[in-house]
Amino acid sequence: MKKQITTHSAQETKALAHTIALLLNEGSVIALSGDLGAGKTTFTQGLAKGLEIQKMVSSPTFTIMKMYSGRLKLTHIDAYRLEGLHQDLGFEELIGTQGVCVIEWPEYIKELLPQDYLEITLTRLDEDDRLIELIAHGDNYIQILEKLI
Ligand SMILES: Nc1ncnc2c1ncn2[C@@H]1O[C@H](COP(=O)(O)OP(=O)(O)OP(=O)(O)O)[C@@H](O)[C@H]1O
Ligand SMILES: [Mg+2]
Repeated sequence: MKKQITTHSAQETKALAHTIALLLNEGSVIALSGDLGAGKTTFTQGLAKGLEIQKMVSSPTFTIMKMYSGRLKLTHIDAYRLEGLHQDLGFEELIGTQGVCVIEWPEYIKELLPQDYLEITLTRLDEDDRLIELIAHGDNYIQILEKLI
């Protein structure tokens, strides 16, 4: 199942992410793709808010992974620097097993993605317009997308 939503401001993208966060469960995985400046961090900030995380979420580019506590724990992974490294960082035990996991640049750790996950791709259409494509892999995520307008 696939849904497409266009947002017209960073605030709108955050609001959408906030709504999605309310529908997530323990073990939820989101693969978040999009070019530089598309809004991946902005989206994750909205998601964090929806998970009742108080801390400000910033890009984990240099740290590869950051964790936050909230209604559910959020693990924010940026796989950009892992391209082709195939290092065992213990992600396999982490992804999809606890809290919510958001993975930026998921194509670089494809082999670590679980069978079921929510695939989200952000595309910059204009200064403030973003196309947000959501693809559900697995029944749980189909149900989540059905609840979104
Ligand atoms: N509709 C929108 N949705 C999301 N961000 C938007 C939107 N309109 C404008 N923006 C702006 O676009 C920028 C998106 O930056 P952000 O850091 O979230 O992107 P990113 O995908 O994480 O980039 P990077 O790969 O460089 O980390 C922000 O400055 C945000 O305010
Ligand atoms: Mg970012």
